[in-house]
Amino acid sequence: MSGGSDVSSPSSGRISTSSLSDLKDLELSSESGCLSIVVLGASGDLAKKKTFPALFNLFQQGFIQSGEVHIFGYARSDISDEGLRERIRGYLKGASDEHLSQFLQLIKYVSGSYDNGAGFELLNKTISENETSENNQPGNSRRLFYLALPPSVYPSVCKMIRSYCMTPSSHTGWTRVIVEKPFGKDLDSAEELSAQLGELFDEEQLYRIDHYLGKELVQNLLVLRFANRFFLPLWNRDNIDNVQIVFREDFGTDGRGGYFDQYGIIRDIIQNHLLQVFCLVAMEKPVSLSPEHIRDEKVKVLQSVSCINHDEVVLGQYDGYKDDPTVPNESNTPTFASVVLRVHNERWDGVPFVLKAGKALSSKKAEIRVQFKDAPGDIFRCMY
Ligand SMILES: NC(=O)c1ccc[n+]([C@@H]2O[C@H](COP(=O)([O-])OP(=O)(O)OC[C@H]3O[C@@H](n4cnc5c(N)ncnc54)[C@H](OP(=O)(O)O)[C@@H]3O)[C@@H](O)[C@H]2O)c1
Repeated sequence: MSGGSDVSSPSSGRISTSSLSDLKDLELSSESGCLSIVVLGASGDLAKKKTFPALFNLFQQGFIQSGEVHIFGYARSDISDEGLRERIRGYLKGASDEHLSQFLQLIKYVSGSYDNGAGFELLNKTISENETSENNQPGNSRRLFYLALPPSVYPSVCKMIRSYCMTPSSHTGWTRVIVEKPFGKDLDSAEELSAQLGELFDEEQLYRIDHYLGKELVQNLLVLRFANRFFLPLWNRDNIDNVQIVFREDFGTDGRGGYFDQYGIIRDIIQNHLLQVFCLVAMEKPVSLSPEHIRDEKVKVLQSVSCINHDEVVLGQYDGYKDDPTVPNESNTPTFASVVLRVHNERWDGVPFVLKAGKALSSKKAEIRVQFKDAPGDIFRCMY
């Protein structure tokens, strides 16, 4: 997906050879030159445990080149460039000290608040200074803003980005904003947040991500389902008895009880990660691998899910959850939930999809279990 420049097709509806090459040039120019990656909330848990390690992996694989890519951390905490590097160093694994240092040197830190212009002006100045340095083409900039922040500050941060930090209109390139889940707390707050961000950015500039979809197992699901001749004819109610999609952690809230208690396991894991996996397991074959085609099939399968039956829901809270000082004593937030989804369509009628997620359980696992029906005329039964 590329953002930034609008390309109109000729009025005849046919694209000439020259306009095709123009289009290609535009695409290439929007993907070349300096890339600035800005991690907002750089002092936090997600940034150190997931975002910077993911950037480091890209660096190790050669996708992030010194001189072309600059990384900026932004948060209120009063720390130096070196202070941020020290915070994240321990989470960057599997590299020589030299390689690690090269990566860390790409990172700069800017301190400022999330709702006033001064910090974002400074951030813009710091980004701009680096965009014109080294071997970057002048007049070309791509700016990627990753919000590793609580959703309550998304609107004000996005306003600040829009007002102070967009790629200058005189430049080629683009500005994109990535927001992490949770995207609101319920339908009303999600719609409100969507409307607020929609006023500031075009849809092509906004990326709402569910990092679970980047997992190898999840990525492989499409291939398993749609490129495997063994499974193709079997993937339906005639052959499958039930499907279980399970997420279990062997640790509790780990000092993040205050955050978790506002959301609970259903909002934190089931309605996003497990429902996404469920869609990939249950949806029909998309027209192509384009994000819109995959989204269309996911929507269709979600629309086919019947109302949840209360008798098929189990909720629980682990012993010791309320010992966390940040969790209120009277909390009844679930840390475990199991729910049965029933898909009312030709492929899945009668097949229960059990979604289960829990914290502080006996083991750590992310699993999709597809249980096939017994083979008819079973000759092995007597052995047990
Ligand atoms: N941690 C994870 O593994 C994880 C996984 C998936 C999704 N997420 C989501 O990603 C987002 C960030 O998670 P996180 O765990 O990194 O959160 P966090 O550590 O609590 O917050 C990130 C940073 O935001 C600032 N901040 C915290 N609370 C704030 C508030 N009330 N108002 C303004 N700024 C505040 C703090 O930086 P300063 O004080 O320095 O400004 C903090 O370092 C959340 O939406 C979370 O649900 C987290």
